[in-house]
Amino acid sequence: LFENVPLAPVDPILGVSVAFKADTDPNKVDTSVGAYRDENGKPYVLKSVYEAEKRLLGAPKEYLPIDGIPEFNKLSAKLLYGDAMNGKEKRMVTVQALSGTGALRIGIIFIRKYLPAGTVVYVSRPSWANHHNICKESGVKSAEYTYYNPKTKGLDFEGMIADMKAAPNGSVFVLHLCAHNPTGVDPTHEQWNVIADVMREKNHIPFMDCAYQGYASGDLDYDAYSARLFLNRGFEMFSAQSYSKNFGLYGERAGALTIVSHREDVIPKMLSQLKMDIRAMYSSPPTHGARIVTTVLSDPELTALWVKELKEMSGRIKDVRQKVVDALAQLNVPGSWKHITDQIGMFTYTGLSPAQVEILVKKYHIYLLGSGRVSLAGLNDNNIMYFAKAVADAVQN
Ligand code: LMR
Repeated sequence: LFENVPLAPVDPILGVSVAFKADTDPNKVDTSVGAYRDENGKPYVLKSVYEAEKRLLGAPKEYLPIDGIPEFNKLSAKLLYGDAMNGKEKRMVTVQALSGTGALRIGIIFIRKYLPAGTVVYVSRPSWANHHNICKESGVKSAEYTYYNPKTKGLDFEGMIADMKAAPNGSVFVLHLCAHNPTGVDPTHEQWNVIADVMREKNHIPFMDCAYQGYASGDLDYDAYSARLFLNRGFEMFSAQSYSKNFGLYGERAGALTIVSHREDVIPKMLSQLKMDIRAMYSSPPTHGARIVTTVLSDPELTALWVKELKEMSGRIKDVRQKVVDALAQLNVPGSWKHITDQIGMFTYTGLSPAQVEILVKKYHIYLLGSGRVSLAGLNDNNIMYFAKAVADAVQN
């Protein structure tokens, strides 16, 4: 019966993490998956999360409503859109989702069902590999827009704008709120303003992928600039929020999808459709992660502690960037490595070739993505010099 089932390719991100776990080398380093590690290379449970969990001990395990915890949904929209909401919540619908992936998935299904047939979802080149998978598996055509310039290791802004202008009117553009994955390259606020102008002219629809709010600048409001800009400019838009990175809730699958409409009267109908899809897929979302987020965000003291911890996490990664650049300079590694400190968020797009990546993986047991993406969270004082020496070897051989 199943002899014709073909073997699917290994996931380009999670597959690397599996290979790391299987490696028994004592010097192995994991810079693959985007998950925070502390200065000892260990996964980190935030103190604010721990405190919330203590308060939640014994909380009921009953089913949540299909669209999740109402308070969680409100707090999520508020965290992302902040003061830009300003009464617009009446034309917004938020549902709890299985983190960013789940929110994207529900949103893309909604696009397939209720946007004009043939609407294309444009994804940056490069982007998080799962964007294309989600579109494909949801039956929506995806295409790419120019984003990264490998020569400057920065943004190809002209290319991005040209592709936005060339796309059919009313296309969906997946835009990374901040801390672009995998490149760590974000538009400036001025560039975002121009992007919004072009999107407006073309009637494009922003779909904000918000996986790193607070992780780019360490400031939640600053990092939310792009989403708030689009809301203020009156766009109908989507946003997928993940609490995996900023709350460290990876396996808890806590996130939210928000859709903004021009009209208030369509919101109950939109919610009813979202609920129907959720019910058919997994009935209702998991409780624990969303309860943690709700507990933290509804208590000013816990929120302050969380913000402090978020600053510490993003601050540590900034320090790691500088230390990597310093180590490469100390070893006189040829080439400019300034892009490592110019880029922001959890990743650096090193520019290492697939052959150089292979040297790092095979010879040094340093696991990174085939694209050269390094999750800086995996580096610390104990392995930065080892990493830099491996890069030196890879670059010079
Ligand atoms: C990553 O890009 O490493 C993370 O977003 C984890 C994932 O699910 O791919």
